[in-house]
Amino acid sequence: MDTATLRRKLRHDGLISLDSGDLFGLRDKLGGSNPLSPSRPYFWRDEAGGPVYDTVVAALDHAPDEYALTPASIRTLLALVEAVGATRVLELGSGLSTLVMARHFAAGQGADGHILAVDEDAGHVSAVQHRLEATGGAGNAAVMAVPLVPCDAGRLTTRTYDHRVVAARHPPAADFDLLFIDGPRMGAPGGTAWSRLPTLPFFRPWLRAGALVVLDDALRDMELEIIRLWEREGLVQPLGVSLAGQGLYLGRIPGASATESNA
Ligand SMILES: C[S@@+](CC[C@H](N)C(=O)[O-])C[C@H]1O[C@@H](n2cnc3c(N)ncnc32)[C@H](O)[C@@H]1O
Repeated sequence: MDTATLRRKLRHDGLISLDSGDLFGLRDKLGGSNPLSPSRPYFWRDEAGGPVYDTVVAALDHAPDEYALTPASIRTLLALVEAVGATRVLELGSGLSTLVMARHFAAGQGADGHILAVDEDAGHVSAVQHRLEATGGAGNAAVMAVPLVPCDAGRLTTRTYDHRVVAARHPPAADFDLLFIDGPRMGAPGGTAWSRLPTLPFFRPWLRAGALVVLDDALRDMELEIIRLWEREGLVQPLGVSLAGQGLYLGRIPGASATESNA
């Protein structure tokens, strides 16, 4: 499916509300810090996450905290996995999203679906592995502890996941259908505000041409700048933005042939 057709389909399915250009324009007119994503009580936690979300949360011994993807964002993420027929997902920043996608695959929605999740916090990785067992997704996800290391990103120096650690265990084979970026956490120990900028170029070798790229927190100033840079450098073809939760940016890895049967 070519990119224009995929964009129309995602808009039709209600998974895209705005073009990224609309958001850049709104952001520039509003001024101030994070006007599109002000900090406020997490009232959206009352939104519906869908049946798989409900099953997973019911099996946990704690309520989702403010670090977890919101229910509406998780519902949207699963709908995107379905819409593009993704069976191999690379996730940066693990947690509830890993559990719900793994359960979705384990329940047969996506046959042999599998997630490779990366996280900088070894304690968090152990907790997610334990929770995967408890929520029935352990056979459909692997979670790796990967340290943040200094790196150059254009004219900036920042810190991000050490992709060489991932390559040593899972050599890149351009066979992932979807990259979901929800880390490093802004303010993570050893991280910087720009830590998500190099994730796309560094993990590009794992992605097939035409793979879907989903970035959470897309309404924040920093993420908007990161999206602007990715688009300017041609790293991603813009699809649009979902207003679910704190905003999900959707883009596509260039190079898919128009005749590809998979999206
Ligand atoms: C935005 S969170 C990722 C959330 C994940 N995608 C989810 O849906 O739960 C980014 C990072 O924050 C860290 N993190 C997660 N939960 C945390 C908590 N309760 N306290 C501190 N850090 C946390 C983890 O290292 C995670 O990779």
